[in-house]
Amino acid sequence: MKTLSLPSRLPLLEGPTPLQPLERLSRHLGGPRLFIKRDDLGGLGAGGNKLRKLEFHLARALAQGCDTVLIDGGLQSNASRLLAAAAARLGLRCELVLRKRVPRTDEAYEHNGNVLLDRLLGAKVHVVPGEVDSRALLNELAARARGEGHVPYVLPFGASDALGAMGYVECAREVLEQSLAAGLHVDRLVVACGSGGTQAGLVAGLTALGSAARVTGISVLAPARDIGPRVRVIAEEALALLAPGSALRADAVEVDEAFVGPGYGLPTREMTEAVALVARTEGLFLDPVYTGKAFAGLLARIADGGIGRDETVVFVHTGGLPGLFAYVSAFEE
Ligand SMILES: Cc1ncc(COP(=O)(O)O)c(C=O)c1O
Repeated sequence: MKTLSLPSRLPLLEGPTPLQPLERLSRHLGGPRLFIKRDDLGGLGAGGNKLRKLEFHLARALAQGCDTVLIDGGLQSNASRLLAAAAARLGLRCELVLRKRVPRTDEAYEHNGNVLLDRLLGAKVHVVPGEVDSRALLNELAARARGEGHVPYVLPFGASDALGAMGYVECAREVLEQSLAAGLHVDRLVVACGSGGTQAGLVAGLTALGSAARVTGISVLAPARDIGPRVRVIAEEALALLAPGSALRADAVEVDEAFVGPGYGLPTREMTEAVALVARTEGLFLDPVYTGKAFAGLLARIADGGIGRDETVVFVHTGGLPGLFAYVSAFEE
């Protein structure tokens, strides 16, 4: 396989994550041949996709002499929890601006899941109403830290830019290497799409490595007309770093917006059914905000023929397990 030259990286994962067959589920569905890339298993902070992005961002932050990291997100943000965990391991100060953007106010949502873990990890947490401009507040907090003699590093939303996407270039390379070693030909990867950097990295990585595997992003946040072009921009910028002069295929970015439901972070029946199905057939946990909706999209597209029963499909499990404990009531309904 081609070797790619990536920016410097600070290892947070412990080697490649497993690529596992979903045999019982594939049989239950009557195809396709399903595999799961276990990016929910990380060595740090309960794991998840943001660790791969943070490997590149934190390498740059440390090279700049940073001692304080800051990010914004929703109240139950997984990215924030993983930044807090990485900061704890590296001995950095960490400030989180968590916006109450999801209309859920029950005890579990407000205090359990990622919120509990952020506090345990020692992050300084600023919870703000949904209408607050969290980016402006982050920049203010960074300026305040600078004024106190610290060196702050503000991460982009979702750590989703070309540098963060390098983490998923690396994931694409792992999937190709693992499938080659197992004698598999992967036709398609399916992944949750929030801020877009994960999908963008996969697309850029597969393109740079010369793979024809498709990537289907299932949006959990924005309409395809908004997030599709964003994914494309990040993928193009990442590709320009990896393989200057090469171009994305016109159809390289595919976003399915049909599974967002009533909104970001709001449960759907398809999501709860997908979470239960994967738990009961494979003993694996998806999350209610990202992977549950993405898997619901995968199941629906298999059912309607959009994904062929003769395909070999890899679902990229991007983590989010702590979110389950914030959504107790969604699974009682
Ligand atoms: C568990 C989980 N899966 C998927 C995503 C989506 O990744 P991206 O924001 O890169 O699209 C996120 C992002 O917050 C996440 O926390």
